[in-house]
Formats: sequence, C-alpha cells, structure tokens
Amino acid sequence: MRDLMAGLPATVAWRGDAEDGVLLLLDQTLLPHAIEVLELRDRDGVVDAIARLAVRGAPFFFYGSGYHRVLPAFPASPSAERRTAAIAAAIRAEAAVLAEARPTAVNLRWALERCVTATAAEPSLAALLTEARAIHREDEASCAAIGRHGAALVPVGGTVLTHCNTGRLATAGDGTALAVLFAAWRAGTRFRVLADETRPLLQGARLTALELQAAGIPVELLCDGAAAGLIARGEVQLVITGADRIAANGDCANKVGTYGLALAAAAHEVPFYVAAPRSTFDPSLADGRAIPSEDRAATEGTELAGHRLAPAGVPARNPAFDVTPAALVRGLVTDHGLLRPPFDAAIKQMFAAGR
Ligand code: MRU
Repeated sequence: MRDLMAGLPATVAWRGDAEDGVLLLLDQTLLPHAIEVLELRDRDGVVDAIARLAVRGAPFFFYGSGYHRVLPAFPASPSAERRTAAIAAAIRAEAAVLAEARPTAVNLRWALERCVTATAAEPSLAALLTEARAIHREDEASCAAIGRHGAALVPVGGTVLTHCNTGRLATAGDGTALAVLFAAWRAGTRFRVLADETRPLLQGARLTALELQAAGIPVELLCDGAAAGLIARGEVQLVITGADRIAANGDCANKVGTYGLALAAAAHEVPFYVAAPRSTFDPSLADGRAIPSEDRAATEGTELAGHRLAPAGVPARNPAFDVTPAALVRGLVTDHGLLRPPFDAAIKQMFAAGR
C-alpha cells in the first residue's frame, strides 16, 4: 500500500540537532503535481506554513508545530540559568503565536500545551524535540488504533463517501477516516470511494485521491455539490470524515461541507461516522457553538490556482469549517474505541479511562 506514497519525501522531518536543526516540511499546497520540501528555520516560517496549509490536518499539527525551531530567540546568555529561563519563556511565547495560526483545530493547542508542559520541567530545545518526537510516535499508534476500531464499519462491496483529506498526509500514520478505509482494505474488504473534491483548496481532489490511488483503492472524485444527490440515489452506504474539534456533547467541527453531508446522510438513513483521536476532543466546550471558526481569505473562493474566477469586485465568504450536530453522527471512531450515543457520557468515560 505504501509503495506509491513512499516516493514522496516525509511530510515532516527534522535535520540536524535540537539546537541547530532545520524543520523540513513537504509543501502540500503543491501536491500532487510538484514535490517541494520547505526548509524552515524560524517561527514565522512555521506559522506561515500552517496558516497557508503547507502543513495541515488536525492531528498532523502535533509534530508540525512541536518541531519548530526556536533557537533564534536565544542570543548568547550570560548565565546558564538565565538562558534556561529565556528558553522556557520563549517556548511559551512561541506556542501562543503558533496556536493562533489555525484556530479551529484543537490538536494544535493540545500539542503545544504538551510541549510547554514537557519543557517547563526541563527547558531545553532537546527536551522540546524529544516531546515532539514522542507526540509523532503516539499519533502513529493512534491512527492504527482508529483503523482497528473502525474497519468493520466499511460495507463489503459498498461505496464510501469522504470529505477533505484525513490520511497519511494529515497525520503521522495512516490518518483518521482514511485509516479506517486502509485498515478495511488490508483486511480484505473490497469497496469503492467517492472523494469530495473539497473546495476551495481541493484537499480531496489533490490529496485524498493521491493517497487512495497509491493504496490501490478504487476512487472517483466528486464535485462537492454532487454528494447529496448521489446519497439520495442510494449510491452511498457509508459517509466517514475526520474532525478538527469535537465538543463534550459530540458536536463535530470539520472541513466546511461536512454538515451538509451529514444532513443528506440522515435524510436518507445512510450512516454518518466521524473518526478522530482523543486529542481532537475538547471536553472544555459544552457544545459546538463554542468552537472557534476559522474564516479564511475570500480569494480562496474567488480564485482557483491563482486565476480570478468571479467577476472583479464580487466578494466571497470563506468559512473553513462547519459544525455537525451530534444528533446526526452515528458513531465516533477514536483511538480509544468506537463511541456510540449518548456521546456526552461516552466522551466522559473515554477521558476518565486515562491515557
Ligand atoms: O483545513 P485542513 O485541510 O487542515 O482541514 C482538514 C480537515 O478538515 C480534516 O478532516 C481533519 O483535520 C481531520 S485530519 C486527520
């Protein structure tokens, strides 16, 4: 399965030592037609890469942010003690700036908090890199667990519809919703996939199509507006997406267009599932109304690949995410098992169970 994707450089890597390394990010905005690796040496470069989706997908932020190079913040310091204090303060300050780069995805904040906590005890760049690497390894295991817990949901001989990109490009492992599909395929279940193109930035057309094709899973692209009609015609047996933040009651924020899919699925009694690791849950928010929404540049809607489509002077709204109410979700496939409604109780139990 990994052979075709194996031709790509790692989505994220760190070259050099903790004090003097370079963050290498595969620029996902150029895929699948150009392969370029960004070499990032400072905080602003990482913020820019996250904000313009060169690195993306909620769980992916774990290590995309954790590996940022903060060394330039520390000029030679007169004492080791002052340097240590400066490092701790700078890691906190840098984390606060990075967290603002994508406000909806709670994983970014979660990863940054972990890095801040881990380095509070031992403020060093080596400790920061160690924590980021631990997060990377854990995410790989989380993806595998999500795949195991969800594989049986995939209908034998059926058609699965998915949205945005939730695979290997978005995580440290096989992904979230795509991990479920990869696991089912490996287990011998045969099915086909309809991948929403996912306007405006086309993560489905560019990235999900690439990942499924590489895995040998039959995939067809779908213009976003076509999904409801095909669901109504009985052509879809399962809809599964990822999430960027899930509230305590199970309301799920995900790439804009997800809510419409969930409505169409509910109207035609097609199961709608969301796959996400526990770090995507934000039990501090009672419901989805409190999830911060990311509004992006209007030009993402008025232009395509840098070419103006809309008449000059016509503005655009560009919310990047929407919230699907828990009532429309049949189940949440997590790294800690498959959660069923009522989600508030199931989510509480998942957190009570610890790590
Ligand atoms: O804006 P993006 O491309 O970062 O949005 C990604 C999504 O909406 C995914 O569905 C979600 O992050 C889950 S990623 C495993």
